[in-house]
Amino acid sequence: MTWLVTGGAGYIGAHVVRALRAEGLPVVVFDDLSTGAKERVPDDVPLIAGSVLDGELLTEVLREHDVAGVVHMAGKKRVDESVAEPTFYYRENVEGVRSLLDAMAAADVRRLVFSSSAAVYGMPEQEGLVREDVDCRPLSPYGQTKLAGEWMVRAQGLARGLAFANLRYFNVAGAAEPALGDQGAFNLIPMVFARLDAGRPPLVFGTDYPTPDGTCVRDYIHVADLATAHAAAARRLAGDPQAALTLNVGRGAGVSVLEVLTAVAAATGLDTTPEAAARRPGDAPSVVAAADRIAAELGWHAEHDLAAMVDSAWAAWQARRSSGAAGATGAAGAASAAGSAGSPNPSGSP
Ligand code: WQD
Repeated sequence: MTWLVTGGAGYIGAHVVRALRAEGLPVVVFDDLSTGAKERVPDDVPLIAGSVLDGELLTEVLREHDVAGVVHMAGKKRVDESVAEPTFYYRENVEGVRSLLDAMAAADVRRLVFSSSAAVYGMPEQEGLVREDVDCRPLSPYGQTKLAGEWMVRAQGLARGLAFANLRYFNVAGAAEPALGDQGAFNLIPMVFARLDAGRPPLVFGTDYPTPDGTCVRDYIHVADLATAHAAAARRLAGDPQAALTLNVGRGAGVSVLEVLTAVAAATGLDTTPEAAARRPGDAPSVVAAADRIAAELGWHAEHDLAAMVDSAWAAWQARRSSGAAGATGAAGAASAAGSAGSPNPSGSP
């Protein structure tokens, strides 16, 4: 039973490819290589370079490789970029799903694992853990495109008998091996590394939130755990043609920015005493997954703790630096990560 992984040359996709193969499932990767890297795809995995907007090519690939299911991860994922370029995000992330669903219908492929995001929740109203059935009010175009993608997948599921799992990722970090690390510096942990590299203190965006230590609380999940969640979803869809799942993928454990900095100090041996910066518009005080639904539906739970995430992220960061990649591909990210205090996170814009 072959699975097509769109975006399989990306940071998360490369981990998912390995998790599926570890289950003995043949995999084909489809990636436009805009942010993915072909070095991340194992030599014996077919790699088709193409855009998911190319429905004809997708249909051909699905047929040629006798694909039984798709894990759709190709897409754009930067909140700030989505605010600046909303139509680009709608084209890549919404039109991309539309194109894929039509290609799957044409090739009669009836299983889909869709990469969604906790960004669909926006500013969760309730205290405590975020459940899948709360009202979704995304704050950024990025979050909107993921929610629109979920809606389309669900509607197609009803219309065409498509078994699906919409997986809402929380804050992904770490690497299963150093070569598979995140090449960008657009999230807290790599942004802290970039600041430390630049000899500057990490920035904390807001220290007066209504949280135990005043800094924002998130649910960090190891990318290797996220990958096994996809394998568990694929297994479920293989045996359940009626599956219609929307699931948080998180640990259900809240971690503050200051706690992340403590873990970074432990992993690196460096001083992570932060510099307080203004709140980023659009940051919710606390976004932590209710993780019981995915446990009940897929029998999945995360196995790695925060220390494992930060240790492996640091090992990957150092590998990237020593390979010279930081200068080549990470310059923009490192520059933005090292950027000025209080630079706005446009995720708050509607
Ligand atoms: C985490 C916390 C910052 C950098 C976004 C998307 C989400 C998902 C993950 C893709 C926040 C604080 C950060 C820094 C800081 N992406 N921070 N200093 O905003 O929770 O989630 O990325 O699917 O959908 O919305 O992640 O890593 O940017 O920030 O204090 O230098 O760290 O304010 O509280 P976020 P993040």
